[in-house]
Amino acid sequence: MEKIVSLCKRRGFIFQSSEIYGGLNGVWDYGPLGTELKNNLKQYWWQVMVRERDDVVGLDGAILTHPAVLKASGHVDTFTDPMVDCRTCKARLRADQLAEKNGARQCPNCGGKDLTEARPFNLMFQTQMGASADPTSIAYLRPETAQSIFVQFKNVLDVSRKKLPFGIAQIGKAFRNEINPRNFTFRSREFEQMELEYFCRPEQGMDLLAYWLKERIRFYEEIGISRKRLHVLDVPEKERAFYSKGTFDIEYEFPFGRQELEGVAYRTDYDLQQHIKASGKPLDYFDDETKERFVPHVVEPSAGVDRTVLALICDAYDEDSAPDEKGKMETRIVMRFHPRMAPIKCAIFPLLRNKEALVAKAREVQALLRPHMNVFYDEGGAIGRRYRRQDEIGTPFGVTIDFETLGEKGEGLRDTVTLRDRDSMKQERVGIKDLPQLIPSKIR
Ligand code: GAP
Repeated sequence: MEKIVSLCKRRGFIFQSSEIYGGLNGVWDYGPLGTELKNNLKQYWWQVMVRERDDVVGLDGAILTHPAVLKASGHVDTFTDPMVDCRTCKARLRADQLAEKNGARQCPNCGGKDLTEARPFNLMFQTQMGASADPTSIAYLRPETAQSIFVQFKNVLDVSRKKLPFGIAQIGKAFRNEINPRNFTFRSREFEQMELEYFCRPEQGMDLLAYWLKERIRFYEEIGISRKRLHVLDVPEKERAFYSKGTFDIEYEFPFGRQELEGVAYRTDYDLQQHIKASGKPLDYFDDETKERFVPHVVEPSAGVDRTVLALICDAYDEDSAPDEKGKMETRIVMRFHPRMAPIKCAIFPLLRNKEALVAKAREVQALLRPHMNVFYDEGGAIGRRYRRQDEIGTPFGVTIDFETLGEKGEGLRDTVTLRDRDSMKQERVGIKDLPQLIPSKIR
């Protein structure tokens, strides 16, 4: 994990937030490469979960949430972690993470045994709307994206004219005042979720739970996460929310242990019923064919963007060996991102930076490829060093413009370049005009 955290900072994937002021605990900023990686993940999720389906539409709900919404959903009263305070070092600790010594609870921070009783601690961030600071002006930063989907169910149903089963998808920020943020970005206080609420008839719930579990596993394989590091936990009844008829956790083997990436839960009609009760508004569905009116049930695949980015980074990290400029073997750090997820798809290198014709041709190739993918131009340093820099950030393809490209080694090779593959390190000679079709065909 140390190597991964250090690479993330060194190469600009993830930085600690407010670092120059000592950092803000549990909050992270994504650097230039992290932003590209995260956007690729979100775009691919949106592509397969919304755009390629007739039965799912999107929503982009507000972060600031009316307290009545979160009162009805149960978050105001029950979204808590049991917490204890250490009277010796003043640390605030999760009760379920305390160490025990000779049967006595112990503070993992200072070893002290003078701890308070456990008290519920609400994980929501509260804020004030407007100028007056009275209790009626409270709003919450949403703790999940799901609730705005339930609250807008009727509006979306009316405008989209969808028939059951159909889903509403959303990607967006969520906030939880986690007591112990830890394991890099894994447990953060500000994070993003990719959630689908898939509404159905009650009798379809269990089958759709199995269906969505399969779909979601396939998604992780398609973004390049190795299947052998993915695990499915069938959450036992006593650990599920009381309203859930079935929940699967999709877990990933992180370097710090097997941990949840996504929950796929059959939430029955609990959320819609809660909002019907609290708002007094009808959030039901009328079936034209059977003439029945009922409250739909819901199956929810709920994934974490930041956790999936972390899994992508952990899964991609590899070390092998490759020759340096003098042919001596050295350790190569290589991020084996699936080309679909890689922040930069293709790097473009003129063989020498001081040969005007090579540089001009390389810039031409850059302009040619730019509309098709994210490319990076690099003319600094020996070519081997430039390859290594791209391997370390997972760029799957490298194009080198050399003297053959200029036609100096025979007319037959004019306007051809070498295309290097990150994983095999093999190079093939291809025509410049073929690159805009060839590289995308290897990415999809
Ligand atoms: N709407 C259901 C829901 O929010 P959850 O299991 O609490 O369920 C869903 O959260 C996903 O959101 C988790 O599987 C995880 O990927 C992500 N997530 C939850 N809390 C997180 C945190 N503190 N930091 C990063 N990701 C988190």
